[in-house]
Amino acid sequence: MSKTNGTNGTAAASRFDPNFTAAVINATGPKANPRLKQLVGGLVQHLHDFLRENEVTLDEYFAAIDMINRAGQMSNAKRNEGQLLSDILGMESLCDEITSTLAAEAADQPTATAILGPFWRKDAPAYAMGDSIVKGFPDADHTLMHGRVLDFDTGTPIANAEVDIWHTAPNGLYESQDPEQPDMNLRGRFHTGPDGRYSLYCLRPTKYPIPDDGPAGELLGLLDRHPWRPAHIHFIISAEGYKSVVTQIFDRRDEHITDDVAFAVKESLVVDFAPRQGDPKGKFELEYDFKLVSFEAGKKYGMPGAKNA
Ligand code: DHB
Ligand code: FE
Repeated sequence: MSKTNGTNGTAAASRFDPNFTAAVINATGPKANPRLKQLVGGLVQHLHDFLRENEVTLDEYFAAIDMINRAGQMSNAKRNEGQLLSDILGMESLCDEITSTLAAEAADQPTATAILGPFWRKDAPAYAMGDSIVKGFPDADHTLMHGRVLDFDTGTPIANAEVDIWHTAPNGLYESQDPEQPDMNLRGRFHTGPDGRYSLYCLRPTKYPIPDDGPAGELLGLLDRHPWRPAHIHFIISAEGYKSVVTQIFDRRDEHITDDVAFAVKESLVVDFAPRQGDPKGKFELEYDFKLVSFEAGKKYGMPGAKNA
């Protein structure tokens, strides 16, 4: 059938029941998930407009249904025909563009991850709010570090989140590399209070060369590369119902901030330590909030898995 006005859409649409699409969309009940309601409502609107504008017949429609059914019947653990159909229509690529554009435009981001490295130890000592993880080093740069652990999407403080922290001594050695240090020195686990706050004393970290007395050092030598990591502190932040974040923060003043041997520096993880006056326990202060994505909200970002890592 040709359109009465020779253009697509509106004139043809008026030849069909003008109330039909709204009736289908409005059939959705009040308990439906709001995002699902938005997506399915929009899909019905666009599909109906498409069917009207193209005056799709039942034969054409059943051919399309048959194709979808065959794609499903053919799909199994080794063959994903539905995804193939979506890809050749550009839909996955468009969703990929939308997802990365949203992430780039967002004013804020969840706490970025960084490598675990070889020196994490499980079961670091549990400390109370405000304790120090430092044994010894009275003249070193003791630092009050504090902040909150927040739900990235809602900004709500997360109570009882775990802040697992570890870093080296001023000699550049983790306690596990250094027989001079007490066991588990410079490592600790803290838990946030009901207001999502944590508070601890640590050291302002020091740059150091990774151990270069083995094959890794040999390869660095062959590649004419230096072994330095910029001063950093490691963390694993975890909380019930949230995706754990393995990360590090880096001291902006470090000369190796731009050429980390392990390539782990990200701008959002570079911090500025502030001088602290009048505190016999610390010369420096650092405030830092960690932002975690809940498994519930993670579904929105296509985050795989709904289990605690
Ligand atoms: C590496 C990472 C570290 O955090 C570290 O302290 C030493 C080595 C690494 O990835 O090799
Ligand atoms: Fe490290």
